[in-house]
This record gives sequence, structure tokens and C-alpha cells, in this order.
Amino acid sequence: MLKLDLSKLKGFIPEDHFAVRQDKLAKAAQMLANHSGPGGDFTGWVALPRDYDKEEFARIQAAAQKIQRQSQVLVVIGIGGSYLGARAVVELLCSPNYNLKKKDTPDVFFAGNGLSTDALLELIQLIGGRDFSVNVISKSGTTTEPAVAFRIFKAMLEEKYGKDGAKERIYATTDKARGALKGLADAEGYEEFVVPDDVGGRYSVLTAVGLLPIAVAGVDIAQLMAGAGQAMEELAADGPDNLAWQYAAARHALYQAGKKVELLACHEPNFRFFSEWWKQLYGESEGKEGKGLFPASVEFTADLHSMGQYIQQGERLMFETVVKFAPKGEFAIPDDPANVDGLNFLSGKPLAFVAEQAMRGTILAHVDGGVPNVLIELPAISPLSVGYLIYFFEYVCGLSGYLLEVNPFDQPGVEAYKKNMFALLGKPGYEDMKAELEAKL
Ligand code: PA5
Repeated sequence: MLKLDLSKLKGFIPEDHFAVRQDKLAKAAQMLANHSGPGGDFTGWVALPRDYDKEEFARIQAAAQKIQRQSQVLVVIGIGGSYLGARAVVELLCSPNYNLKKKDTPDVFFAGNGLSTDALLELIQLIGGRDFSVNVISKSGTTTEPAVAFRIFKAMLEEKYGKDGAKERIYATTDKARGALKGLADAEGYEEFVVPDDVGGRYSVLTAVGLLPIAVAGVDIAQLMAGAGQAMEELAADGPDNLAWQYAAARHALYQAGKKVELLACHEPNFRFFSEWWKQLYGESEGKEGKGLFPASVEFTADLHSMGQYIQQGERLMFETVVKFAPKGEFAIPDDPANVDGLNFLSGKPLAFVAEQAMRGTILAHVDGGVPNVLIELPAISPLSVGYLIYFFEYVCGLSGYLLEVNPFDQPGVEAYKKNMFALLGKPGYEDMKAELEAKL
């Protein structure tokens, strides 16, 4: 399914970079399989494509159909790991223009991923008088952004449909036993789905966290899981042929050779939010203890006209990972008898041919400019290929964290801003901190 080309790393990292890491990779793979490494309690995602809860999966599909029947809009409330995966997959498979399309599935809007008043007011306006449902996703139930958004949309639903009608339209994805949202969902009788204890937010796209919104958008989630399942089987094999091992070894060698930024590039505009998901996955997993590649992203060819200059000639900090999907259709470039733009040498050629040469030319230019390149090639964008890629990136991330000798499954740094925000907002219990912070402002 996936091809990995590391040939453009030659000269940037030692020839034996894989061999010197092979034992460590074998140990990392073992730790992931046995859940025995640092953060092992959060490695439930490793076997998820095989061991997922089949009963819940069927309920997700049924709930998606109910939402499709009842509503023209689904509002998905969540932040970070409780939001990025769903949006990444909906945009990649259904397009960032999904809500603008003529279709028989509901519009899907994402809320609770920020604190912008303008964005909230705009969303309320976009929903207008249409029927809507809400999927609130929060493991803890106390994360400020989604909790505030849920208050607002819950009240809107209750006003529109009454308390009983609203509870038929609210779906809570949360902890199976604890937390504020769990308590509320039990008390109100919302349909509930589980954020598994052993799967952290950024690895949760193939649980109910991602699957319910993705299914509502009409994606075949069984195919998504099948693609991930295929990756799981292939990447479980030990040794130098394992593509995840190869990519993890190369990333680590590049990092040690002074490349501090990994730039994820794709030539598909639909991929933009998938890059956001990828950034959280790698940023939160590797960025700790003063270590870790900084994950950044660009969309080509658009960003070649903005970031291209820096990539070509700025600080030599980065390597590039390009994700290339086969195109789904064909479009031939029209002839222009006047040849005003001088491009008639392209007349009749497929647009995909031009895109391919643009990609190849860019890779060669960047490598010449000191930016090593990793190329990942996949068949056309489909639930199967996307499921495969999700698992591939997750698995490489787990291996990479262990090569870096960090716990890839915790995120202690995320708490710092939350504490400051609570203190400044005057949350009870934070009084001393409030005074201290206000003196610094
Ligand atoms: O990856 C993570 O753990 C975070 O991004 C969380 O998913 C995010 O902070 C949301 O947390 P919660 O689901 O508890 O609202």
C-alpha cells in the first residue's frame, strides 16, 4: 500500500544509520507490542484495528445513520486529540469544501476548539434554523473550550427541541467511568461512546472520538479500520524491511545530524488538516525534555510561492517528508491557439503529469539546497489508504519516541497554560497564583 523512498537522504546521514539503530528499534517494537515501555498504559492503539469494540462500532454506525436522518448539521465539540483526527479525516476524504457540497449527509462543523467569539457567532448563524445534533467529545469533561461550547449548544438544543428532544440529539464521547461529562451524560440519558483508557487523545482517531463524526460525513469507517488493520499487520514484522522502522531510524538519524524541523508536505489541499493532526501527534509525543523534532507543514505547490524561499535558502534546520497520493481522475490541459502564456508544450498533457514533474523538481531543488527528503507514496485517497496512513504515522511516532528516549504517550507541558488561564479567570483554588501572575502581566 505504502512506498517509502529514502534515497534522497544520501550524504545527509551515515550509511549505517539503520544498522546502528536496529536493536533499539526491535526493543521499541517489543515495548509497543507488550505495552511495557514508558507510557505503556496508553498503547491500546497498537492493536486497536484488530481489537476494537465491535459492539460499539455497530452503535457508532447506527448513531451516524440516526444523525443523518434527523439532522442537516452535526456540531462536533472537542479540542486537541478530541477533535483533530475527525476533522483531518473528514477533510481528507470528503474535502475541506464538504459543507459546501450538494449531498445527502449533514454538514459537519467543529466547535469548542478555541475561544473565539466571532467564530462562535458565525457558526450559530451558519446553523440557522436547520435541524442539528451535537457530538460532544471530551475525556475529562472539564476542558474549558469544549465545556463552554457544550453549554452553549446544549442550551440551544433544549430551547429548540425541549429537554427530551435535545437528549435525542446529543451524543457524548467520554471516559467510560469517570469525569464531569460522563456524570452529565448518565444523568441526562445521552447516548454515550467511550474514549478508551489506554488510548491517548492524539492516538484516538480510530476510536469513537474520530469515528462517529467521520461516519456522519458518509465515510465507510469499516474500510478505514481495514486500512489501519493492513498497516498493523505489515508493520508488526521485525527487521530492516519494515517501513516504519526505516522511517523512524531515518528521522532519528536526521535529528542527530542537526535537522531539528520535520516539514510535512503534500500536494493535495485536502491534506491540510491531516497535517494539523500529524503535528499534534508528533509534537506532543516527541517534544519534551528539551528534545524532539519540531513538526511543521506546508501545502504544495501553493506554499512554494510563500515558504519556498526559506525552504530553499534559509537556516538549514529541516528535512522534508512529502506525502504523495495517486490522483483519482484525469484532466488534460487545454490548447490555446494564441499561446499567450507560452505553455502550449503542455497542451493535451494530464494535469497530474505536470504535478508529478513539479513535485520531482521541487524535491531535487530542496535536496540540492540542503533539505533531505523522505517520500511517502500511496494509492488514491480512499478510506483504505487513509486508514493505512493513520496507523503508519502513529506507529512510526511510537517507535520514534522510544528512539528519542522520551515517553511518547504523555503531555505534561500542556497543563502549564491551563493553570495560568484558570488562575487569571479566578477559578477557586488558584487565588495565590492569580496574584503572582497579575504582578507579572
Ligand atoms: O491529546 C491530548 O491529550 C489532548 O489534546 C486532549 O485530547 C485535549 O486536551 C482534550 O482533552 P479532553 O478530551 O479531556 O477534553
